[in-house]
Amino acid sequence: MNRAEPLVRPATADDQPAIVDLVRAAKINPTGLHWPRFLVAEVDGRVVGTAQIKPHRDGSRELASLAVAPEMQGQGIGGALVGTLLRGASPPIYLTCVDRLEGYYARFGFRALDRAEMPPDLRRIHRAMNLLMRLVSRGRRLLVMRWDAESAAG
Ligand SMILES: CC(C)(COP(=O)(O)OP(=O)(O)OC[C@H]1O[C@@H](n2cnc3c(N)ncnc32)[C@H](O)[C@@H]1OP(=O)(O)O)[C@@H](O)C(=O)NCCC(=O)NCCS
Repeated sequence: MNRAEPLVRPATADDQPAIVDLVRAAKINPTGLHWPRFLVAEVDGRVVGTAQIKPHRDGSRELASLAVAPEMQGQGIGGALVGTLLRGASPPIYLTCVDRLEGYYARFGFRALDRAEMPPDLRRIHRAMNLLMRLVSRGRRLLVMRWDAESAAG
């Protein structure tokens, strides 16, 4: 697969509809999509990827809303967004993801947490989502992961 060379930049108000469309198409959490917190990735003048750092009431910050247009996946766009967000962030940064993405995020240095290590807001989300997932998607689990700016895996 060819690598794209996306322009990763802070979002503007004009990007709000594209952010909402990409997140909806990715079927991930459609709430809390406020453009001032977002980075977008642009290829040939089109917004094809999004990600944000989302603050929680307990003070924790979550890498969230990472979405790349389906036809543009596998070209390094998600990696460019995560890399740029982490370069501008101070640790710790948390995220929630389905277990099949653990390896993807481990490449950037995220590691899965035990319940006791989770900040309170994410522990609540983790408990509620895993109850739901037990009912609707057998075998899938939600993970909470943390980045401490240690060296990334392989
Ligand atoms: C997850 C997502 C953002 C990744 O974006 P992307 O632009 O396709 O990712 P990249 O091109 O940067 O990275 C692809 C690389 O990750 C690897 N990878 C993909 N899934 C992986 C996994 N589950 N475990 C380990 N590596 C994985 C690929 O093999 C590829 O490796 P390579 O660079 O050596 O070829 C994208 O697939 C997406 O939008 N998915 C739908 C929404 C979603 O699930 N978002 C995450 C919410 S937590």
